[in-house]
Amino acid sequence: MSAQPAVSLTRPQVVMETPNFYIRRLSPDDASERIGSWFAQSEVAEGLNAEQRPLSRDEVRNWLASFDQQANRVNGIFDKRNDLLVAIANSQFNWDIRRVLMNIVVGEEAYRHCGVILEACVPVRDLYFEDMKLSLVTGTALSTNRTIIAFLEGTGFTRRETVKNHRLLRRTGAYADLHLYSQTAQEWRDWKAASQETIAAIRDCAARLPPA
Ligand SMILES: CC(C)(COP(=O)(O)OP(=O)(O)OC[C@H]1O[C@@H](n2cnc3c(N)ncnc32)[C@H](O)[C@@H]1OP(=O)(O)O)[C@@H](O)C(=O)NCCC(=O)NCCS
Repeated sequence: MSAQPAVSLTRPQVVMETPNFYIRRLSPDDASERIGSWFAQSEVAEGLNAEQRPLSRDEVRNWLASFDQQANRVNGIFDKRNDLLVAIANSQFNWDIRRVLMNIVVGEEAYRHCGVILEACVPVRDLYFEDMKLSLVTGTALSTNRTIIAFLEGTGFTRRETVKNHRLLRRTGAYADLHLYSQTAQEWRDWKAASQETIAAIRDCAARLPPA
């Protein structure tokens, strides 16, 4: 009996699978009004500090076309049960210093706070550190974004610096700080070694997902 392939043979461009999702490269042809509608949700607009309005299909297409899929990549996280695109992740690589900056939006409202990025984070960071041999994974969080802060700190990132009053918040007109987080390869390995129970608990978020 042959082992299950790491990369799906039936879904082109798939870079990774997790228990409930597959992750594949996005192209401008993936643009849709449904993706555009994500940006009309208050949680998305606030999380990204973006204007709260739906993007047109053409705006989404232009946005997706802005990624070169080399140093600046954009991937989609899809529900395996129905091929629904639930999240978009951007990875900006600096090969000279072997660093990647991650950004993510879980745009499908029913899928937020269900454990989607928790389920993806272990295989994704193993890919970055062990397969791609990166040295550092970085992320930023507005001080008002409690979910992303809890995610970063709950999965072993360290807050290295805070830029005070970095961003003017569109919704409130107040300034928010920007926290700069990172994790080295060794910190990731140490966190994994110390967090086996956590990893087992976040590995499969099926029980929290909405019906297909
Ligand atoms: C922020 C965002 C990307 C998080 O993705 P998500 O799939 O909803 O998050 P998950 O459910 O996988 O996990 C986040 C959770 O990790 C939790 N967490 C951290 N370690 C954990 C652990 N070991 N076990 C359980 N939960 C843990 C946090 O408490 C947070 O919980 P919350 O949902 O109750 O706030 C998503 O909510 C989103 O797109 N928000 C709008 C846009 C945005 O803010 N993007 C980020 C810009 S930097």
